[in-house]
Amino acid sequence: MDRLSDKVKRLPESATLKMARLARELRAQGKDVISLSLGEPDFDTPQHIKEAAIQALRDGYTKYTPVPGLPELVEAIRLKFKRDNGLTFDKDQIVVSNGAKQSIFNISQALLNEGDEAIILTPYWVSYHDIIQMIGGKPVPVRAGIEQDFKVTPQQLEAAITQRTKFVLFSSPCNPTGSVYTQEELEGLAEVIARHQLIVVSDEIYEYINFTGQHASIGTIDAVRDLTVTVNGFAKGFAMTGWRLGYIGAPRWLARACAKIQSQVTSGATAFGQKAGAVALTSDPGPTIAMREAFRRRRDLVIELLSAIPGVKTNHPKGAFYIFPDMQAFFGKSFDGQTIRHSDDLAEYLLREALVATVSGAAFGDPNCIRISYAASEDQLREAIRRMGEALGKLS
Ligand SMILES: Cc1ncc(COP(=O)(O)O)c(C=O)c1O
Repeated sequence: MDRLSDKVKRLPESATLKMARLARELRAQGKDVISLSLGEPDFDTPQHIKEAAIQALRDGYTKYTPVPGLPELVEAIRLKFKRDNGLTFDKDQIVVSNGAKQSIFNISQALLNEGDEAIILTPYWVSYHDIIQMIGGKPVPVRAGIEQDFKVTPQQLEAAITQRTKFVLFSSPCNPTGSVYTQEELEGLAEVIARHQLIVVSDEIYEYINFTGQHASIGTIDAVRDLTVTVNGFAKGFAMTGWRLGYIGAPRWLARACAKIQSQVTSGATAFGQKAGAVALTSDPGPTIAMREAFRRRRDLVIELLSAIPGVKTNHPKGAFYIFPDMQAFFGKSFDGQTIRHSDDLAEYLLREALVATVSGAAFGDPNCIRISYAASEDQLREAIRRMGEALGKLS
């Protein structure tokens, strides 16, 4: 008897699982695998944030919290949106969640009926696609290649809109490309979104890892002010991936719907984590700035080293901690009887031959590229890219 639901059977297995398994097998054989596949900072949560959680535990923050969040965290988020983004929200427009991923799940669940379409600016973070699909919606990727710095134009967006389009979803700074949309580019997209009265979901979780010195939020643009959900979280900017804490600022009706969904799934986020989150948003940003500067140095190093490998084409990422080189020059080439057809083959080849774990771009909607995370030490990055150059040089 087949007990599993159609819904779970439709759910694809994580594209990174096979690579993770292979890496584990190689490590078990004693091989020195360098992993550049991680989506989390290699820094620890700043000490003062940890202390705040410990103090909160001592103070008895061990109970259920209101589903949309502890009042003091909601207030800290409201002030942060104003201070950092120029976005004005009332407190009932904010919903704290167990991570930005849950926020995106809540939003998708709140907006999509079976068969409704959600446009995802592509390359995209892999979970966007799979969450929308799991819910019964139809993800519609709109793809921008490296020649346009992986950024979708208003014309491309316009062409993908149908009667069934409900929302447009993207991240800037972007995982996996590191690209950052400028204010002007956002205005172009906002004009199309406003004309079609779509919702725009702006995932700004890499906001604090932005090397341009300026973070632009689409929600500040008048035409889409009431159509924008701004998603953010603590995972990347404060190195808090394991804390599971995210949030949204949204139109009131949508915030209410997200809280209703969350109330049936997980309830409010962890009480003492929320107390620490409020401290993170209101205390010295020094550790976050130091982390961003370390990522900037590594970004420069990685671009320099990768650009020296013939055939590897890079953009100049302006945020996050990823680079997404176009590797098409190697497709059709072979080594030892194995021909590289696309990014899946190439990522597997690099793992076996160079002992470097990356992620195939196909997982992010672009099979011409691979994603390299530079959340690793400079020594590891130098050695990994040296090995990659050697392995790529063997392909003919
Ligand atoms: C673009 C993007 N959004 C959201 C998330 C998930 O954030 P959280 O850990 O807060 O669920 C990630 C994590 O990799 C991400 O890259």
